[in-house]
Amino acid sequence: MLSAVAAGIAGVAAHDLTQKRHSLMRNFPVIAHARFALEEIGPELRQYIVTGNDEERPFSRDQRSWIYASSKMENNYTGFGTDNDVENAEYVIFKHHTFAPVAAPTGTHAADDVWLPCGKILGGPRGRRDAFRPDSVVNISAMSFGSLSGNAIAALNGGAKLAGCLHNTGEGGLSAHHRQGGDLTLQIGTAYFGCRDDEGRFDLDTLMRVVESAPVRAIEIKLSQGAKPGLGGMLPAAKITPEIAEIRGIPLGKDCASPSRHAEFNDVDSMLDFVERIAQATGKPVGIKSAIGEMGFWESLAGQMQSRSRGVDFITVDGGEGGTGAAPLVFTDAVALPLRVGFARVYSLFAEAGLSDDVVFIGSGKLGLPDNALVAFALGADMVNVAREAMMSIGCIQAQKCHTDHCPTGVATQSKWLARGLDPTLKAERAANYIRTLRRDLLKVSEACGVWHPSLLDADDVEIMDGNRRGTPLRVVYGYQPTWGAPGPRIRDEITALMSQTAPAGGSAPSTDEAVQAVVPSES
Ligand SMILES: Cc1cc2nc3c(=O)[nH]c(=O)nc-3n(C[C@H](O)[C@H](O)[C@H](O)COP(=O)(O)O)c2cc1C
Ligand code: SF4
Repeated sequence: MLSAVAAGIAGVAAHDLTQKRHSLMRNFPVIAHARFALEEIGPELRQYIVTGNDEERPFSRDQRSWIYASSKMENNYTGFGTDNDVENAEYVIFKHHTFAPVAAPTGTHAADDVWLPCGKILGGPRGRRDAFRPDSVVNISAMSFGSLSGNAIAALNGGAKLAGCLHNTGEGGLSAHHRQGGDLTLQIGTAYFGCRDDEGRFDLDTLMRVVESAPVRAIEIKLSQGAKPGLGGMLPAAKITPEIAEIRGIPLGKDCASPSRHAEFNDVDSMLDFVERIAQATGKPVGIKSAIGEMGFWESLAGQMQSRSRGVDFITVDGGEGGTGAAPLVFTDAVALPLRVGFARVYSLFAEAGLSDDVVFIGSGKLGLPDNALVAFALGADMVNVAREAMMSIGCIQAQKCHTDHCPTGVATQSKWLARGLDPTLKAERAANYIRTLRRDLLKVSEACGVWHPSLLDADDVEIMDGNRRGTPLRVVYGYQPTWGAPGPRIRDEITALMSQTAPAGGSAPSTDEAVQAVVPSES
């Protein structure tokens, strides 16, 4: 009897170790089944004990389940109706249109693909040599090799290639794992990893060599990150392998803390010189990434860009709710504005200065969920970056041990054993499925709201509900002027022309001869 049980367990262990679908089972054979079993009966158990579907943070169980199902191309619909507390909670609603010339696509399955390009040309207004229209409004946010495992980076870059989106390198430099064919945004952090000389100073020639060696489409200068603004990046010693030490040019066995500020510039004026220097040398669009705190910096930036002689091509606003590999608690909890507030303040300054069409606005901070992303679009975002949601699509279970090197799913670790559990080829498909699903949902809701593209939503298309008592338009909540949140007429026409040629049509059956058809305007 005992030997039969032992043989059974050995069989399960052998199966777990050799299969590639589940990183957790590869890394923790046999015992990982307990988690899957609990996941299976969890909804029933939770009716009586533990927390509800919307209570966990940073991502609730409902949100994670939607990401997992989307990435696996499983049924990601929900049954019975919302389990949100619509009577009391604060939440957003998008105002659908009863009649509109735009019909929501009928594609119902996770990962059904739609083309959802950026509404603006990145680098176009400033005439950059390699200006381009990004093919996807959803892109993979900055996460370094070091913070994530090589297999995780390879999976994300492979996913970016399959989904046709951009993959941001993070501030740790461009590694071999980033070279799976996906287009890249190269990030330059305060330590200039990957583009520095032996003394750690920024080196333009090295940057040029890196840019030319890979499909780098844009360059992002990182000023700060929502989870730890005012602090440089931090890679704990436990995660520094010889390969990472080599790529970054740092010693083994010591925490690698990046400086909190750049050595190449110290005000808006010198930052704009640095931006132009890089853009001219590389021909690439150049932007900045920042969390939002005091507004003097942004007022000065909008002011100095008004002459249009120098300027950033894009601004990535990272919300205080954003993620990190490692940061002090007080910074993750209490420094930097949340995305909606910070983004709205920055956008408003540029809209008031008449510059909002000149800049591609990118948002990040839990925007890998359709409702959050759509609010960002209505506030004026042109694209969203997703970090932790992309991690979940490749297996992250929100164990929140990213800073310890003990990530059980092989995503955020440098342990060879744990990272081995993550199969980059399979997980690249999962990442791509998730990104495609998010794009499809963004388009579906936009079309339900009567517009061709999420960028055409404006701050009047969304309301924030105070339970079932009242709803207030975003425009009022964030002090926007009418039409703010959507681009100006020229870009709106371009987007409509692009999308009306390619968007999949849903809609109704052909009308009868007796049907009365009003002439509808081309856009509402
Ligand atoms: C593990 C990890 C590593 C990160 N590394 C970087 C980085 O190198 N540079 C950066 O600008 N942001 C970094 N971030 C922040 C993300 O790029 C992103 O801005 C933030 O997590 C918000 O997006 P999310 O809510 O979709 O995760 C990191 C985040 C995580 C979770
Ligand atoms: S599984 Fe846990 S430790 Fe691993 S990446 Fe996700 S949150 Fe971090």
